[in-house]
Amino acid sequence: MNVGVIGAGYVGLTTAVCLAEIGHKVICVDNDKDKLEKLNRLKVPIFEPGIEELLERNFKEGRLKFSDDIGEAVKFSQIIFICVNTPPKEGGFADLKYVEKVARDISSFMGEDYKVIVDKSTVPVKTAEKVKETIIKYSNKNVKFDVVSNPEFLKEGSAIHDTMYPDRIVIGVESEMAKEKMLELYKPIINRGNVPVKIVSVRSAELIKHGANTFLSLKISFANLIAEVCDAVKADAKEVLEAIGLDSRIGSEFLNPGIGFGGSCFPKDILAFKKTLEILGIDCSLVESIEKINERSWRRFLQRIEKELWVLDGKVIGVLGLSFKPNTDDIRNSPALKIIEVLLNNRAKIKAYDPKAMDKTKKIFPNIEYCSEPYAVAKDAEALLICTDWDEFKHLDLKKIKELMLIPIIFDGRNVFERKLVKSLGFKYFSVGR
Ligand code: UDX
Ligand code: UDX
Repeated sequence: MNVGVIGAGYVGLTTAVCLAEIGHKVICVDNDKDKLEKLNRLKVPIFEPGIEELLERNFKEGRLKFSDDIGEAVKFSQIIFICVNTPPKEGGFADLKYVEKVARDISSFMGEDYKVIVDKSTVPVKTAEKVKETIIKYSNKNVKFDVVSNPEFLKEGSAIHDTMYPDRIVIGVESEMAKEKMLELYKPIINRGNVPVKIVSVRSAELIKHGANTFLSLKISFANLIAEVCDAVKADAKEVLEAIGLDSRIGSEFLNPGIGFGGSCFPKDILAFKKTLEILGIDCSLVESIEKINERSWRRFLQRIEKELWVLDGKVIGVLGLSFKPNTDDIRNSPALKIIEVLLNNRAKIKAYDPKAMDKTKKIFPNIEYCSEPYAVAKDAEALLICTDWDEFKHLDLKKIKELMLIPIIFDGRNVFERKLVKSLGFKYFSVGR
């Protein structure tokens, strides 16, 4: 099939390369000229495992091209995905100005042919109806189309795998024709993995995405709450949560306590969901509690550091991990950066290392010392903070780290190390809920 993807961010680019990989012809559109220039040189502007290979193959084999021309993509495609960003507005509601703009642009290039317009960006319930109204309003002619909601559930760091082998595909449709087109589009993925497909109403599909992300962030905040209790009574949150997670009704994933969730999705999506509840007059205290616990998670970590180090002024603190989670260079809402900001305000000297996220962090904190490897961070440090659970950190030579540090204290915000081992090596060791 011929497919247009508008927006070449994490979501759009992943969608575009994966649809090309399963045999469709894809035009991916973005209004960022720098990004397009890079992509046309087969350079991926983000770090995402596996994406470069798929980009190169499909580009060279002619199934994928990049363009700044929405008109070209609309005329070419039977299905057009909207994958632009939906950042929070002041007050928390999702800002839908980019979605609206793309809908207007699409409307002006619609011709005689029937098209399916797909909302893939995470949007509040009823957005698809607005997209439909917008296209009708601005197209000035009798256009044939349906608007479908097809939320993505991809995690950064495993975006390609999550798209090619999803747990489920959710398609919110109101017409048979749109349903058939979407099933045809995803057929190779559905057949290969025997993937469950949920055909639902458009409004349900929109709610599924916000509901899933709210529930996942609830699980993380629950784990962080248990960690708080464990710290208070000196129990071990790892033991507690592992056993809780073994109940098949609960499940063990997303129950890892730490310094809280970040990223471009959870914080923004639960805020938008809270706004939706407020607008509907439904009590939103559950969502507020998720946010409160999340904020408390990184603040509690900081308090421990402040308590242990007493005066921060002039102290050298090493930070391992800057991205909001491993296997990505994304630093949006990263707890690591919030922690660094407070430490810098208290005049600590920060040395930092991250396998992928240093270039992006340099734009925010140009004046901290960036090291080319973790041991250089440890050298002469009075504390070492683990802020992201990159695999690389799990395999560090802790004996060597201890020799390099001025004072051997580790604050492990992601419970990366075995507590007994670290202590036996002579470190003072603080982790979360253990
Ligand atoms: C974002 C949200 O984070 C996610 O929740 C939502 O589901 C989809 O949008 P992401 O892909 O991470 O996901 O966003 P981002 O990396 O900011 O990419 C958006 C892209 O759209 C950018 O490349 C931007 O240049 C492009 N864009 C934006 C357009 O091409 N036109 C516009 O009018 C606005
Ligand atoms: C999330 C959803 O998982 C995905 O389905 C959706 O489409 C987009 O939003 P993403 O933001 O890429 O994906 O990352 P995710 O793996 O969900 O992690 C989010 C944050 O939660 C990270 O900061 C991570 O460190 C944190 N986290 C995750 C925990 O603190 N504990 C956990 O147990 C799991």
